[in-house]
Amino acid sequence: MQSEHKLEEIGAFKTLEQFIIEQQGTLDHSTGAFSRLLRDISVAAKLVNWHMRRAGIVDVFGKTGEINVQGEVQQVMDLLAHKEFVRALKRGGECCLIGSEEHSEAIPIRAGKDNKGKYIVLLDPLDGSSNIEVNVSVGTIFSIYHLPDHMEEATLDAALQPGVEQIGAGYVVYGSSTVLVYTTGQGVNGFTLDPSIGEFLLTHPDITTPRYGGMYSVNEGNYQSFELGLKKYIKWMQQERPEDGRPLSTRYFGSFVADFHRNLLMGGLYIYPATHKNKSGKLRLMYEANPLAFIAEQAGGAASTGTGRIMEVIPEKLHQRIPLYIGSLDMVRNAESFLAGERGID
Ligand code: AHG
Ligand code: MN
Ligand code: MN
Repeated sequence: MQSEHKLEEIGAFKTLEQFIIEQQGTLDHSTGAFSRLLRDISVAAKLVNWHMRRAGIVDVFGKTGEINVQGEVQQVMDLLAHKEFVRALKRGGECCLIGSEEHSEAIPIRAGKDNKGKYIVLLDPLDGSSNIEVNVSVGTIFSIYHLPDHMEEATLDAALQPGVEQIGAGYVVYGSSTVLVYTTGQGVNGFTLDPSIGEFLLTHPDITTPRYGGMYSVNEGNYQSFELGLKKYIKWMQQERPEDGRPLSTRYFGSFVADFHRNLLMGGLYIYPATHKNKSGKLRLMYEANPLAFIAEQAGGAASTGTGRIMEVIPEKLHQRIPLYIGSLDMVRNAESFLAGERGID
């Protein structure tokens, strides 16, 4: 009896595929091709999830021995995730250009006249990969653009569009459950992978983020190299003012996508500022900051460089880094005020 009841409950959820098809009719740019692209991304996510779930059993932990284009140690799973996404996007045929953290150049899928795919996908195949061996959540982040009409060939220039031009963005968290969250500019929706039927089910419809949250996420080990305004803001958040919810709590996984997901649902602010080591910040504009900025804004939050809107930054390089303040709207605005010297500790 009980299992029958459970089956009925599963059937009551909308699948990602059903949701995408329903939305298709409501988007200006949306055609079957865009829906197929989203499907290809979700298939790759399921494959990466499959690798992740077996990671302690088969030998996919550890480092490849390579240093990636970022100068960072590449993990075996970084490469596996990259390969799964590239393969799924190539096979799907809707994508003309891929930019990946794990590949120095943009990857054209088909060049010239044969190129039928009209979408550009920029991605961080595995975010937080240094956490894999210790079972902390990791994720995938993706950003989707149109190949501009005037461009015949999908070259790197086609990918260097500001975040405001995104037509879709999302992420997957491989955590206690596997969740895919995405936007096409009409709000934010989240889907949980049901491993028993292999489908992403709509579990988080129309996500909105609280205007203010009780948590901030920053690598405070870098405190000495933060600019003065940020130091003051952190001290302000740590002050004991129970009447307005201070002190806030610190939560920092070291997996951007996992920190972002928690803050999105619960309210909070993620910060990766410029530091002495990473003078332009650490996170990458095109496949970390922009896609999650799109999600944050669509959920009612914000994303800033500290002085301006992330999605308006004109990109110069595929792998460029950017200082990032992202999350609940009022917290991002507070950060900007402190950085501008308009506010101090009271
Ligand atoms: P990636 O694993 O894709 O290289 O990204 C790592 C990023 C991000 O996920 C995380 O928030 C940040 O690096 C952590 O950096 P620190 O260890 O410097 O705090
Ligand atoms: Mn990353
Ligand atoms: Mn990565």
